[in-house]
Amino acid sequence: MSIPQDSESVLASEQQPIIQTLNLQKNYRTGFWLNKVVTSLQDFSLQVMPGETFGLLGPNGAGKTTLLKLLLGIAKPTAGRGFVLGKPLGDGAAKQQLGYLPENPYFYDYLTGWEFLTFAAGLFQIPNQVQRRRIPALLDLVGLDRKAAPKTNAPLF
Ligand SMILES: Nc1ncnc2c1ncn2[C@@H]1O[C@H](COP(=O)(O)OP(=O)(O)OP(=O)(O)O)[C@@H](O)[C@H]1O
Ligand SMILES: [Mg+2]
Repeated sequence: MSIPQDSESVLASEQQPIIQTLNLQKNYRTGFWLNKVVTSLQDFSLQVMPGETFGLLGPNGAGKTTLLKLLLGIAKPTAGRGFVLGKPLGDGAAKQQLGYLPENPYFYDYLTGWEFLTFAAGLFQIPNQVQRRRIPALLDLVGLDRKAAPKTNAPLF
């Protein structure tokens, strides 16, 4: 997860933790009848302050991915609470400020780079005027020629 450092985009004040979790727990129901419970994360409390570089290490199955899913609002905690950029887990305004590189990124073959970024920005409800500024900047950042990732007016679906 990357957290933008420029002051206009950071929602939290400098004194607030960027990430805070309080006794987070996540149980998954598994099995054919969903009658088995796996506890992926238990009683997990963490605080990361602005400017800190934090590495999350642990053996396979320790719950690292589960924690990231909870921080990003992809999964909901079974118990406990958490805040990212001062907002409760899953808050849309905080999500708009987060970048996340998944372990197994999936790109749709039929979308251009521009279209994929537009699609992703739409999922995170990033305002159109911000999209118009950031999409070309991001394509430039990764060295994608804008001609190779043309903007089309075709509907995505
Ligand atoms: N969707 C799920 N349904 C059931 N159990 C799950 C689910 N996701 C994770 N688990 C279980 O929760 C525990 C923690 O898994 P998690 O993937 O968070 O660990 P991890 O630290 O990311 O591991 P790795 O280093 O292998 O990526 C494991 O026992 C895993 O099998
Ligand atoms: Mg993992």
